[in-house]
Amino acid sequence: MDIGTGDGRFVYQMARSNPDKLYIGIDASSEALVKVSEKTFRNPKHGGAKNAIFLQARVESLPEELNQIADEVHIHFPWGSLLAAMLKPDEAVLSAVRRVCKRDALVELVTSIDPSRDAGELQRIGLGSVEDTHVTDVLFEPYKRAGLNITEHGIMPPDKWPSLCTSWAAKLKTSGTRHVRYIIAQAF
Ligand SMILES: C[S@@+](CC[C@H](N)C(=O)[O-])C[C@H]1O[C@@H](n2cnc3c(N)ncnc32)[C@H](O)[C@@H]1O
Repeated sequence: MDIGTGDGRFVYQMARSNPDKLYIGIDASSEALVKVSEKTFRNPKHGGAKNAIFLQARVESLPEELNQIADEVHIHFPWGSLLAAMLKPDEAVLSAVRRVCKRDALVELVTSIDPSRDAGELQRIGLGSVEDTHVTDVLFEPYKRAGLNITEHGIMPPDKWPSLCTSWAAKLKTSGTRHVRYIIAQAF
């Protein structure tokens, strides 16, 4: 499951590469999903992917039909309320993310914050600076209370960004001030 899937590129590519697995892309906005949704209905020889589903929903109100179905949840380069919910964090949203996970499912959160370029947005969503100790000092306990155990976190080097297969990763420029951080959590 890919929450905040944007134009659905990650879901589409994963579904094409792994036809035996089901991929679900979710975004608050459906606009960017029109093209990719149409593509999935083509003949698989011409780019179709029947194992990819896209739906419009906010992370704050994920449909109950998604309960406990995910082996993996990805949240790549969130912005706005999704970014705020994952990093402040909002425990109700963390519980919603946990709710769609099977036991032992992995949750991957990848964020890209440029302290100077994104200062306005960070202020708007009420998130101050995100220090290196943010995961251990601020996130670790609330994630645990929601049933998500943070098992790994760190900074992703720029040469690994394209391997994320998302449009936002492709847009990122190597910049001295932009850090791409990742968190892996396991549902328990
Ligand atoms: C920067 S884009 C990243 C898109 C994609 N994951 C990528 O890496 O290319 C952030 C996405 O998060 C979505 N988003 C923001 N707030 C959300 C929310 N509360 N629930 C679901 N999606 C949200 C936006 O609509 C946007 O498509």
